[in-house]
Amino acid sequence: MNTLLLQAERADHLAQAGHLLKAGQLVAVPTETVYGLAADASNPEAVAAIFAAKQRPRNHPLILHIGDLQQLDQWVKAVPDWVEPLARQFWPGPLTLLLDKHPRVSDVVTGGLPTIGVRIPQHPTLLSLLRQHQLAVAAPSANPYQKLSPTRAEHVMAGLNGRIAAVLDGGPCQVGTESTILRVTPEGAEILRAGPITASALQRHLAVPVRDFAPHRVAVSGNHKVHYRPNCPLSLLTRAELQAQWPRVDDTTGLLLHAADWPAQGGHRIAMPADHQGYRQALYGALYRLDQTPGVARIWVEAPPSGPEWLDIWDRLQRAAGT
Ligand code: TXA
Ligand code: MG
Repeated sequence: MNTLLLQAERADHLAQAGHLLKAGQLVAVPTETVYGLAADASNPEAVAAIFAAKQRPRNHPLILHIGDLQQLDQWVKAVPDWVEPLARQFWPGPLTLLLDKHPRVSDVVTGGLPTIGVRIPQHPTLLSLLRQHQLAVAAPSANPYQKLSPTRAEHVMAGLNGRIAAVLDGGPCQVGTESTILRVTPEGAEILRAGPITASALQRHLAVPVRDFAPHRVAVSGNHKVHYRPNCPLSLLTRAELQAQWPRVDDTTGLLLHAADWPAQGGHRIAMPADHQGYRQALYGALYRLDQTPGVARIWVEAPPSGPEWLDIWDRLQRAAGT
């Protein structure tokens, strides 16, 4: 299969992406978080093809992406009262809500679970695609299973070229890590995957207490410890550890540095932004770049700051390190 590279700003290309999806083909689409590998969610065969293309186990649930709130009724059994304030505040945006699925939703989408993860993504091109064609798409991140999530069309091509019909290039993703996943019950709410939206931001719009993400407590199917991984082994080092290791830095070492005061020489280095938004947006692209730099055989990451806004970044780095 020859994977087409379509440009989001071209109306004819956008129309072509819509027709491909309607015809049951797979199209990688830009979102504000990471690129998604989209299939028409009402077509179980199309959705099944996602698992083959990614080489992902079939029992992993996918996230449903809709274009507006009116579409929600078709996919969930009921819309609980707590949805509206969250949707008003955070949609379109990087928040996935788990809701009881409508009986018509195929088990292929939810991995056999009774719930479905739903969000309205904040990307103008994807939103117009979904709205124009009255589409809802199931879309995991557009990377081979357990590899780095893509934040540029070229990352998608590097992993899935020849395995999918098209990539819609909508530029670099603006947010950069995957959406926050939230489960709400009458007793309380719980973050199942750390993401760009923090527990305290969610708490302001929910009556029940919100439990923050805790990596060792939650075992969502499909949210494995080894995930978001570059090809080179990655180590996450504190500043003191990196200082101690510095004499070993050589041409095979890729460095993701946070502070500005490291020696001027040694290794292939990328300086990361000091603020969490900038860091988040740059993260996967920086890891791709180091991973693809000829000669680089290991990646050392200087630990970023801690704090609630950095939780998703820490989570992705720890998974990339396999720790
Ligand atoms: O930002 C994002 O969420 C991106 C973009 C493309 O929207 N998507 C994404 O999808 O990260 P994916 O497949 O890489 O991760 C989806 C994860 C699953 O691995 C699983 O952990 C969780 O969402 N999930 C989905 N549906 C679920 C459900 N019904 N119950 C529990 N967890 C669910
Ligand atoms: Mg993923």
